[in-house]
Amino acid sequence: MNAGSAAAGATAGTGASAAAAPVPLDAACPDGGGLRAQFRLPRGLGGRIAGLLMAVKNRSMGLAALDALDLPPGARVLEIGFGPGVVLEALVRRPEVARIAGIDPSELMLARAGRRCRNDAARGRVDLRLGVAEALPWPDASFDRALAVNSFHLWSDPQAGLGELRRVLTTGGRVVLGLRVALPEARRLASPGLTDEQIARVPPLLVAAGFRDVYVERRSVGSREAAIVGAAC
Ligand SMILES: C[S@@+](CC[C@H](N)C(=O)[O-])C[C@H]1O[C@@H](n2cnc3c(N)ncnc32)[C@H](O)[C@@H]1O
Repeated sequence: MNAGSAAAGATAGTGASAAAAPVPLDAACPDGGGLRAQFRLPRGLGGRIAGLLMAVKNRSMGLAALDALDLPPGARVLEIGFGPGVVLEALVRRPEVARIAGIDPSELMLARAGRRCRNDAARGRVDLRLGVAEALPWPDASFDRALAVNSFHLWSDPQAGLGELRRVLTTGGRVVLGLRVALPEARRLASPGLTDEQIARVPPLLVAAGFRDVYVERRSVGSREAAIVGAAC
């Protein structure tokens, strides 16, 4: 499905009310602690296990989101909520990418991802930081592309995070959000994913943050379905 910019424009009016009430996209689906909470902010032994699972189970979705970025030569790319760093590692291998940056609030994930990219970090091509989408530590127009995979629904203030993304992207830049679609019924340890209603709330938030040409594309990735939500600046 490609909802296209018309769909985003038609629902843009709801963006203002969403902005007035900063609520994570999955606020109605608390994860209840335990190992599930480790996918929200990985730490300790549980976080290490979650990191290993994410590196395997989220790989195809991360690579699908990366493909959707349509990287130009010399691209400066930002990843938000990089987790174990599988997408960062794939970016490092792309010769057309000039500069790679990432941010994640988990010290454990910063260390894990940093290990995957240590050579390029030492050369200054990779810049990984501890922090959140809602307060990005880079100047305006620092990047040409940005992505967030399995992370956007966790941001405590999605509208503020998208505003920050728009600020650090250059005019003509693009963003891709990779969202896992909800399963018809709950499965133990499987990510619950986002419902159609939750996914439909994302395009208006992007429009309210100043993005245009918003689209939503459904794709099968591994054994699950993903919604790839893209937009331009
Ligand atoms: C489910 S994991 C996904 C990790 C990786 N992108 C993947 O697909 O395997 C969610 C990640 O988002 C990070 N995160 C949570 N809240 C965040 C926020 N407000 N800003 C940026 N990252 C956040 C978590 O620390 C975690 O590493």
